[in-house]
Amino acid sequence: MSNPPYAFGDDDTAAERHRMLAYIFAPEIKSFLGRVPPDPGLVIDLGCGPGFTTRLLADTLNAGKTVGLDTSRPFLDIAGSDSNGGLDFVHHDVTRAPFPTGAADVLFCHLLLPHLADPAGALRTWASQLRPAGLLLVDEVSDIQTANPTFRTYLDAAERMLDGIGGDLYVGRRVEQFGRVPGLRRISSRLVKNPVATAACARMFRLNLDAWGPNPHAALSPEDITALGSALDDLATSTATNEIHWQMRQIIFKATTGG
Ligand SMILES: C[S@@+](CC[C@H](N)C(=O)[O-])C[C@H]1O[C@@H](n2cnc3c(N)ncnc32)[C@H](O)[C@@H]1O
Repeated sequence: MSNPPYAFGDDDTAAERHRMLAYIFAPEIKSFLGRVPPDPGLVIDLGCGPGFTTRLLADTLNAGKTVGLDTSRPFLDIAGSDSNGGLDFVHHDVTRAPFPTGAADVLFCHLLLPHLADPAGALRTWASQLRPAGLLLVDEVSDIQTANPTFRTYLDAAERMLDGIGGDLYVGRRVEQFGRVPGLRRISSRLVKNPVATAACARMFRLNLDAWGPNPHAALSPEDITALGSALDDLATSTATNEIHWQMRQIIFKATTGG
């Protein structure tokens, strides 16, 4: 099964959107990483984008080595501009094993599974790339709750768009319902609510909307796109903080076998 194309772009604007993602999600990611034993040998950031999550992993877990894997060369160029001995970025399709790094103590997956055609298959592959007793951390969107009509319009279009290319915006729900994954034992699962300021969210959605362009699956007319874009621009100056809540599913799997 081939993966859907990554529909959110990988140019400088997309990198800027990832900087916002990092700002928005850093607190929930840090609280998740607090559940990992310190000083692992090798940590891998699966689908690392421009490297913001990889640096957060490196700064938080104090691993011997932290490596970001991604298929986007432009993102890897941005990510790797200040890599060092303990931090590296490598081109690799993470749905394929073996990884060029060898097996890891910790694999981290954040906002990647919505873009993969076969999330269950990806988890089976990752199980084979863990050292004995290694951990796979999956941190994915389960729901985004909002009564704001502009956000609702955007989210419905994003869901249709991802669905149309074989992805799943709310893949966290699906992972929660996976039965047994060969090579992995689920040791914890929790739902974490992440309230996001309206202005930050509107700016991020606006960048996404620009990245999709007139995507047929989103089913928005050029007029709809213009109207949604300017409604998001209006929200980008809002001071509201309680209008939209991400629910993140954070699951920890432990390897039952060595990679
Ligand atoms: C939404 S970004 C998330 C980046 C980062 N994990 C974060 O949370 O900020 C998804 C990333 O996954 C990458 N990606 C998509 N499919 C991939 C694959 N099969 N192998 C490696 N990277 C992939 C994309 O290029 C993109 O950088």
